[in-house]
Amino acid sequence: MRVAVFGVGYVGLVQAAVLAEMGHQVTCVDVDAAKIERLKEGIIPIFEPGLAPMVQTNHQAGRLHFTTDVAQGVSFAELLFIAVGTPPDEDGSADLQHVLAVAGAIGRLMQGGKVVVNKSTVPVGTAHRVHQHIGGILAERGVSLPLEVVSNPEFLKEGAAVADCLRPDRIIIGTDSTHAMALLEELYAPFNRNHDRIIQMDARSAELTKYAANAMLATKISFMNEMAGLAEKLGADIEAVRKGIGADPRIGYHFIYPGCGYGGSCFPKDVKALIHTASEIGCEAPLLRSVERVNDRQKHRLIERLHQHFGSDLAGRTFALWGLAFKPNTDDMREAPSRVLMEAIWAAGGKVQAFDPQAMNEAQHLYGLRDDLTLCGTQEAALKGADALLICTEWQQFRAPDFELIQRTLKQAVIFDGRNLYDPARLRQRGFTYYAIGRGDSLEQGK
Ligand code: UDX
Repeated sequence: MRVAVFGVGYVGLVQAAVLAEMGHQVTCVDVDAAKIERLKEGIIPIFEPGLAPMVQTNHQAGRLHFTTDVAQGVSFAELLFIAVGTPPDEDGSADLQHVLAVAGAIGRLMQGGKVVVNKSTVPVGTAHRVHQHIGGILAERGVSLPLEVVSNPEFLKEGAAVADCLRPDRIIIGTDSTHAMALLEELYAPFNRNHDRIIQMDARSAELTKYAANAMLATKISFMNEMAGLAEKLGADIEAVRKGIGADPRIGYHFIYPGCGYGGSCFPKDVKALIHTASEIGCEAPLLRSVERVNDRQKHRLIERLHQHFGSDLAGRTFALWGLAFKPNTDDMREAPSRVLMEAIWAAGGKVQAFDPQAMNEAQHLYGLRDDLTLCGTQEAALKGADALLICTEWQQFRAPDFELIQRTLKQAVIFDGRNLYDPARLRQRGFTYYAIGRGDSLEQGK
C-alpha cells in the first residue's frame, strides 16, 4: 500500500520505517529541509536502537522516500498520517498548530478522497476538529471529496521504539467508517498476524485511550514514589515492598520502580494536557493533579538529600553526575530529572561533572559552554575530584561499576542514587555513604 507520513519526529519516522520494512511504499514529508536532506543521506536525527539501518535499507530499496514537498505527499497516497508534534501550550494544553497546519495543507491540495490518520497525541475531539478544518477548506474551494479522519494513537517507548512498533501490544483504530477501517486493516495486516491486535472504537475513545494509558502509567510511578517517601521515614525498604506487591498479578512488576521522577516527552506533557482537558469540561481530576505534584516533588528528592548532607551552600563543591537522559537507551533530555538536579546544584553554587553514554551532545546543545558544567568523556572521568557521585539514569553500564575506583577517585565515598541500582548493605560494608530512594537503611545512615 502507499502511505504518506507528515512529520518525521520520533513517532513519524519510526512508524514510516516500520511500514516500509513490511513492504509498504512510504513517503515522509517534513518542513525541515535540513532534516530531510540528512535522512536522504541515511543520517538519523535521533538515537534509537535499530532505526538507522532500517531507514537506510528501506530508503535504498526504494520503499521509503523523503521530501519537503507537501503536495507530493498529499498526492502520493490515499492514507495520510499526521505525526507532527503537539507541544504543551503555556496553560498545559496540547498545541495543535502543527496538526492543523498539515490538515490545512491537505485540504488545499487534495484532489481525490483521503483517509487522514492522526498518530500525534491529541486532545479528545481533535479528529472531529481536523475533519471540520479540512471540510471547511474543501467548501471554500467549492469541491466535495470523500474524507475520513481516524484516530490511531501510538504507544511506542523511546529506546524500544522500533521493537514496539514492529510488535505492538494493540493497534487502536478510532473510526466509524468501514472504508477507513478496511484500509487500516490492510495496512496493519503484517503486524496483526499471530493474534488480533486491532481494537476498533470511536475516534474520541481512541484519543482518550492514549491519554488514559500514559496517565495510568504515570500514576503507578507516582504512587510508588509516594510509598518510597513513606518507606524512608518508616525505616522500610521500598525495593522489598516493590517485589512484594509486584508478585500480585493484579499489580504486576511493570512500572512500579521508584526513582527520581518520570520525565520524557510524553508523561509530563500528557498528564498536564489531560488535567487541562478535565478543567475545560468542569471536572477536577484530583488524582491527576496529585500524580503531577508527586512527580515534581520527586525530581527534587536528590537535591534535598544533597543539602541534608552538604548543607545549603554548595559553593566550592563539585558533583559527578551519571546519567543525563530521562531514561536509558535514549539521548532525550526532555523533562529529565537530571536537569532539575543540575540546575538546583548550580543555583546553590556547586559544579557538575557529567557523563551520559548518549546524551552528551544534547546536554551541550541545551546548556552550551558554562564553567559550572564539565561534560566528561567517560563515567570514570566524571568522578575526578568530585565530592560525591549522583545517579539519575539507570544505564546498564552504571549497574556494576568499579567501586574501589569510585572510592579512590571521589573526595568522599558518597553516592546519591536516584535509581536504586546498588545494594545498600554491600555499599555500606565497603565504606560508602549511600543514599537511595525509599530505602530505610539509607535513612539510618543519613541521620
Ligand atoms: C511513554 C509510554 O511508555 C509510551 O507508551 C508512550 O507512547 C510515550 O510515553 P517513554 O516516555 O518513551 O514512553 O518512556 P517510558 O519507558 O514509559 O518511561 C517514562 C518515564 O518513567 C521515564 O523517566 C522512566 O525513568 C520513568 N519510570 C518508568 C519510572 O520512574 N519508574 C518505572 O517503574 C517506569
